[in-house]
Amino acid sequence: MDAGAEQIVVRHAGPLSGEVNVPGAKNSVLKLMAATLLTDGVTTLTNVPDIADVAIMGDLLSAIGVTWARDPADAATVILTNHGAITPVAPYELVERIRASINVLGPLLTRCGTVTLSMPGGDDFGSRPIDMHVAGLEAMGATFEMRQGYLVARAERLHGATITFEFPSVGATENILTAAVFAKGTTIIDNAAREPEISDLCNFLVAMGADIEGIGSSTLMVHGVERDSLRPVRHEVVPDRIQAATYIAAAAVTGGEVTLINARPEHMEMPLRRFAEMGLTITPQTNGLSVWAPPRMRSIDFATLPYPGIATDYKPLIVTMLSIASGVGIVTENLYPGRFRYVEELLRLGADISTDGHHAVVRGVRQLSGAPVRAPDIRAGAALVVAGLAAHGETIITGVSHIDRGYDDIVGRLSHLGADIHRR
Ligand code: UD1
Repeated sequence: MDAGAEQIVVRHAGPLSGEVNVPGAKNSVLKLMAATLLTDGVTTLTNVPDIADVAIMGDLLSAIGVTWARDPADAATVILTNHGAITPVAPYELVERIRASINVLGPLLTRCGTVTLSMPGGDDFGSRPIDMHVAGLEAMGATFEMRQGYLVARAERLHGATITFEFPSVGATENILTAAVFAKGTTIIDNAAREPEISDLCNFLVAMGADIEGIGSSTLMVHGVERDSLRPVRHEVVPDRIQAATYIAAAAVTGGEVTLINARPEHMEMPLRRFAEMGLTITPQTNGLSVWAPPRMRSIDFATLPYPGIATDYKPLIVTMLSIASGVGIVTENLYPGRFRYVEELLRLGADISTDGHHAVVRGVRQLSGAPVRAPDIRAGAALVVAGLAAHGETIITGVSHIDRGYDDIVGRLSHLGADIHRR
C-alpha cells in the first residue's frame, strides 16, 4: 500500500488516562532550521519532532547548502551543517510542499544579497499572500521581480527601517527578523507577531550572536551585526502548544484524565482559560499540566485571533469539542476564511454544524457515530482523529499524510493513553 493510501482507524474506547509527552513545535523547528542559513558550522537542535515537514525543510536546505541528519543516539536531536557554500535558490518542487519554505527568504537575502524563490505552498486553506514580507524587505532596501514563477529578490546590503504591520503576520515577522540580523543599523518591527515560536526564534538568534530587544512583545528592535559575527549553537525547540491542545481535546471528548509532560501552560493561557469555561479542570504541573474532563462539556463561543488570542490552528480541535458539548457554540474565524472544510467531515460523524463565511454555529449532539472521513489538512486531520475517539463505532481517516506533516506519532501516543487506534 502506498503511503497516500494509509488509514488511521479509531474506535470508541472510553476515557483516556495516563501521561503523554508533548513533542517540539513544528512551527518553531522549521523556522530555526531556516535560520541556520545565517551562519557556517554545525547547529544542533534538540526536542525536534519526528514529523514529515522537518524532512521536507531538510531537503530544501540541503538543496541550498545546509545538510542535516538526525543524531543516531537520539532521534529528537537534529544536526545541521552549513558548509558555507550557499546557493540562494529555492526550487519549486521543494518550496511548494510547505508554507514555512518562505522562511529561507530573510536569511538568504541578508546573507547572500540575492534569492530566487518559488512561491510557497503548504496547507491549502485559502489564499496566503506574502505581500507583507515583500513590503517589509523593500523598506529595508530590497528589490523584487517575478521571473517565470520565481520571485527574485536583491539587496547589496539591507538597511534598518521601521516597519509597521497592519496585521501581526507570523511569517512576515520571522522573515523581517532574520533579514534584520545583518542589516546596517536598527530595524523596528511594530505590531510584530508574539507567538511563543517567534520568541523561540529570537532566543535562538540571540544565542547565535544577534542583537534583538523586545522579545515576546509586539515591538521587536533588531540592531544589525556584521555578517561574520554569528556562530552556530545548540538549542532546544519550544514544546508544541497545538499538539498539546490535541491531547487535551482527546482527554476532553472521552471524559478522561491525562497529564501532558513538557506542555507549557504559559504559552496557552487563553485556550486553557476557555477550556476551563467548558468544564475542564486544568492544573499546571512542574513539568507540564494535567487535565480532567467532566462527562459532558459546556459550549462556548470563541473567535480566532493572533497570539495571545485563540490560534486558528486550535479551531478544528475546539469545534470538535463543541460538537458533543451541551449547548450551542458560535465560532468566528478571523484569519483564514477557507478553514471550515473539515466541518463537512464532522457532519459525516453526526455533528450538527452550520457555516456561513467566517462563522460556524455548532449545536452539541449527545453522541457522534463512526464513519469514513478524509483529513483535509494537518490540524483538521488531528481533530478528526479526536472526533473518532468520541464516536461510537469505527472511524476511518484517510489523508493521513497531512497528519504526519505535523504530528509526531499521534497513533502511538493515543494508544499509550488507552485509545483503540491503529494505522493500516
Ligand atoms: C503561521 C503558521 C500557521 C498558523 C498561522 C497563524 C507556520 C508554518 N504556519 O502561518 O500554522 O495558522 O501562522 O497563526 O508557522 N497574510 C497576508 N500577507 C502576508 C502574510 C500573511 O495577507 O504577507 C495573511 C495570510 O494570508 C493569513 C494571515 O495573514 O490570512 C495570517 O498569516 P501569517 O500570520 O503570516 O501565518 P503564516 O506565517 O502563514
